[in-house]
Amino acid sequence: MGLFNLFGGPDVGKLGFGSATTAQEAVAGIDLSGKVAVVTGGSSGIGVETARALSSQGAHTVLAVRNTEAGQATKADILKGSPKAQVDVMSLDLSSLDSVRSFASEFEKTKLPLNILVNNAGVMMCPFSKTKDGHEMQFGTNHLGHFLLTDLLLDNLKQTAKKTGTESRVVLLSSRAHHRTYGEGIRFDKLNSEEGYSPFSAYGQSKLANVLHANELAKRLKAEGADVTVNSVHPGVIATNLGRHLPGPVQWLLNNAVRPFIKNPEQGAATSVFVATNPSLKGVTGEYFADCNVQEKSAFGKDAALGERLWQVSKELTAKK
Ligand SMILES: NC(=O)c1ccc[n+]([C@@H]2O[C@H](COP(=O)([O-])OP(=O)(O)OC[C@H]3O[C@@H](n4cnc5c(N)ncnc54)[C@H](OP(=O)(O)O)[C@@H]3O)[C@@H](O)[C@H]2O)c1
Repeated sequence: MGLFNLFGGPDVGKLGFGSATTAQEAVAGIDLSGKVAVVTGGSSGIGVETARALSSQGAHTVLAVRNTEAGQATKADILKGSPKAQVDVMSLDLSSLDSVRSFASEFEKTKLPLNILVNNAGVMMCPFSKTKDGHEMQFGTNHLGHFLLTDLLLDNLKQTAKKTGTESRVVLLSSRAHHRTYGEGIRFDKLNSEEGYSPFSAYGQSKLANVLHANELAKRLKAEGADVTVNSVHPGVIATNLGRHLPGPVQWLLNNAVRPFIKNPEQGAATSVFVATNPSLKGVTGEYFADCNVQEKSAFGKDAALGERLWQVSKELTAKK
């Protein structure tokens, strides 16, 4: 077990990929020309390296970001290294369901097919606050925004797979923190309540929702015979802007003393890129990956009834009022 592996997971799997693999290594030799990928939160941390790796292999990559200036800066940075890369920036605020709907409709107007959707954006441990639709911020942004986005782009993913004869893939960024949710898993009766709110448990709950969303969508797509796979991933522990709400001393430790012993963003993006592109994963769906290998989900993460209930509730909460 290597130092990078401080937080668990096998070191190297049978393909030779493990905790120290970078996104560029994970995608090396895989031709993505003609494919289109959307990466949410593609202007910071893991999202930048995910977009860089996908576009470097020829995927037309759309950075779906709330800060379009940062998106343009990321695009310029990617083009410096890969002048031929096709990168677009489009506005998406996952904390507003109207913004998610506008993004989906703007994306459909481009008439682009969609092969890869990476639901990467996220917020962690913020003080209690609500999205524009009145949902608790972490559940609303990390789960509900992505739930609606995926739903609105699903037909394109299916049609693209049909037309090209190549499966489309959805990757959801979860976390090992999905093991550390509230006692009841998803607190359906208090989803938007400040009562008993814990920034840490609420983050874990939202990341559990990502795992359950991937499981349930994978199951439904399999049942209808759609050629679209859906998997969730834990990227590792990486010092990014995600830590902005951590207590100051913890941020300091993460950004200084701990940083040399954890993954950098290029390594953090490896599992997303691997799951989104590796040919060996054809047909693999409803799994949870870390360090480019399948990993065990938490007990709640394997709970099919919980996943079905979350699906119904999410449908209701994201329905157009
Ligand atoms: N870093 C880790 O150790 C770690 C561990 C486990 C899981 N993860 C997961 O990995 C993913 C990427 O995290 P990261 O570490 O790369 O964090 P990051 O650097 O903070 O990037 C997160 C991205 O999400 C975007 N975002 C946040 N709220 C949004 C909203 N309402 N609408 C649209 N975009 C929004 C951010 O935009 P702004 O730049 O505008 O804020 C940013 O681009 C997250 O889902 C996170 O939960 C990370």
